[in-house]
Amino acid sequence: MGLPSGFVELLLLYGIFFLGLAQAKVHYHDFILTETNFTRLCSSKSMLVVNESLPGPVIRVTKGDTVYVNVHNQGYYGVTIHWHGVHQPRNPWSDGPEYITQCPIEPGSNFTYEIIFSDEEGTLWWHAHSDWTRAGVHGAIVVLPNKETGFPFPEPDGEEILVLGSWYVGDVNEEVAEDLENGADTPRSDSYTINGQPGDFCECSKEGTYRWQVDYGKTYLLRLVNAAMNAELYFAIAQHNLTVVGLDGSYVKPVITGFVMISPGQTMDMLVTANQPLGRYYMAARQYDSARYDVTDYDKTNTTAILEYRGNYTPSADPIFPSTLPTYEDFVPALSFTSRLRSLANHDHPVNVPKNITTRMYITASMNTITFDYEGTTKSGLASSLNNVSWINPSTDVLLAYYRNMSGIYTPDFPEYPPVLFNFTADEVPDYTTTTIQGTKVKMFDYNEEVEIVFQGTNVFDASEDHPMHLHGYTFYVVGSGYGNFDNVTDPEGYNLVDPPKMNTVSLPKKGWAALRFKASNPGVWLWHCHLDRHLSWGMDTVFIVKNGGTPETSIREPPPNMPPCSSSAIRLQRLDNSGEKIN
Ligand code: C2O
Ligand code: CU
Repeated sequence: MGLPSGFVELLLLYGIFFLGLAQAKVHYHDFILTETNFTRLCSSKSMLVVNESLPGPVIRVTKGDTVYVNVHNQGYYGVTIHWHGVHQPRNPWSDGPEYITQCPIEPGSNFTYEIIFSDEEGTLWWHAHSDWTRAGVHGAIVVLPNKETGFPFPEPDGEEILVLGSWYVGDVNEEVAEDLENGADTPRSDSYTINGQPGDFCECSKEGTYRWQVDYGKTYLLRLVNAAMNAELYFAIAQHNLTVVGLDGSYVKPVITGFVMISPGQTMDMLVTANQPLGRYYMAARQYDSARYDVTDYDKTNTTAILEYRGNYTPSADPIFPSTLPTYEDFVPALSFTSRLRSLANHDHPVNVPKNITTRMYITASMNTITFDYEGTTKSGLASSLNNVSWINPSTDVLLAYYRNMSGIYTPDFPEYPPVLFNFTADEVPDYTTTTIQGTKVKMFDYNEEVEIVFQGTNVFDASEDHPMHLHGYTFYVVGSGYGNFDNVTDPEGYNLVDPPKMNTVSLPKKGWAALRFKASNPGVWLWHCHLDRHLSWGMDTVFIVKNGGTPETSIREPPPNMPPCSSSAIRLQRLDNSGEKIN
């Protein structure tokens, strides 16, 4: 007895076919943006958040799904939302950065984003991409593997999400607006947070400290997001090893470590086994500050949450603090940790590093000054630049201008090389290097070009520090990095073209360089920027436009209906141009 074997095969085929269909799910969410009251560090304020929660709601998908998020802006100023690390093939319309791919969703209106997942797998996140609103408007994205493939490690017993953030006692958007008008430095955060809570070591915070309950013997997949505004962070759990298995929505070869260093914008997946004596253990994060030693006014809070075993035991008075957490200015652990990251590079998760480079760029990242006229007086203010161009947002988004062939919005002349070569990483750099030009200069690429970019950190203005450089619409392979000036003869010899880590945000080391490669196979308008918000506000950004490939399948999709219009002039933060005019 039994079914004819051909029939069984057919059944199997159908099964797989239906599984395949079942996988590409569509999800719908409503994000309601409202001013909500929060009390932290002994003081209360209202702050714009999504669905009244901090961090905001988690978006959960399986690889390849599509999500529609209808964002209803019930706040007081225009906002956009970016789906950080989601490639959005051919769909820059839903990428989110304000004045790059759309204009703000004005108060009282809504806009539906279509978020198209493709090869991402692991943890990503979403956040506001206008002004400094992302301080409150952010949340995690979980991308589960397909059922058949599964995780490239034993299925974890449970999952936990920790979102690292920054807390400002005041209204950070207001403060930043004022600082930008005056050319002054921007505010420091008052504490870092884990899932919205500063934790036991901060004033009036003990009650709210976030807790994670675990069962002895189980292994958990911990998803860590650095949503802090301006800080790279060290993170550790007392007496528990972390096994890093993923980064920025791609898998890495397992790295067993006592701590991690995570840059703003990055997401890390790690396995944690609850194998220590029943008790309570601090999970702690603190800033890794790579700036000048005499610049010490950074936020020195140690934010904590508690990992707590279930069961019957008498807990010690205080949880144990991680002895493995490096100190604020210790750069050696940061470097040694990041240098251990490698792509998984196996059959199910292959690497495909571009080898026939058609475009090479060498891009300096610098801190600068600009002078401008402010109500009749000449002022000088802080700025930052890429290849000595400090980005100015246009009043109509670059994507619309490109798509509709509008002139006068941007210029396609972002330089491939720094305008002047000098010893970028010297302790003293020539004075003439401190000023930058301002502009809306973009770089154009042909479809499928193979691109290599070397970012070079500089010590211009005696202000070198790490820059977490983030590209929208893509992940890239980080094929090399090092200290000092990039040497285009000797340094490429050390490139890792075998299993380089794949990232959407790379920490460009202070006074150092990072080399990365990608294939320009996603047509669209994509923002490149430093993920320290103060550097982004000061102009450390540019835009890459990848042209269409000549067929409908290789071209930007049609714009969705109801893109927020660019005409309305709501009150929002604005930079000044050289004449002191506000840029709308
Ligand atoms: Cu986290 Cu421009 O992005
Ligand atoms: Cu930066």
